[in-house]
Amino acid sequence: MAGMYSDKVMDHFANPRNVGQLPDADAVGEVGNPKCGDIMRMYLKIDGGVITDVKFQTFGCGAAIATSSMATTLVKGRTIDDALKLTNKAVVEALDGLPPAKVHCSVLAEQAIKAALADYYRRRGVDPEPIVGKLEEPHHDHGEGCAL
Ligand code: FES
Repeated sequence: MAGMYSDKVMDHFANPRNVGQLPDADAVGEVGNPKCGDIMRMYLKIDGGVITDVKFQTFGCGAAIATSSMATTLVKGRTIDDALKLTNKAVVEALDGLPPAKVHCSVLAEQAIKAALADYYRRRGVDPEPIVGKLEEPHHDHGEGCAL
């Protein structure tokens, strides 16, 4: 399997950054991947519009772990606006690419960050949809197809 993946993907898979929970998170987002049923949860600590800390947990494949790990390093210390602009494509590029069959896994990280930011606005009584956009509903149905 290693040959299919870049060194950066293997590094973030073997040593994922920012794994875990933030008990005092200001925002939590959970999303499911409709293609495989995997789940991602993202915790954010936000201070003055800046993401000061981030942690993630996933019930997902190696590519999901690697992309989430990379995504957390890309949003940590950045503003909410920057985090909202983070696309799964940018995360995949930062990892020097993913095999085409695994690109859908990278969507989980992008969506989880957006879901967490939506939660942040919701907690403050602000409708997140005009800011964050429409998110897919969490999908908890663990079906076939998740190849670890
Ligand atoms: Fe489920 Fe990658 S996220 S196969």
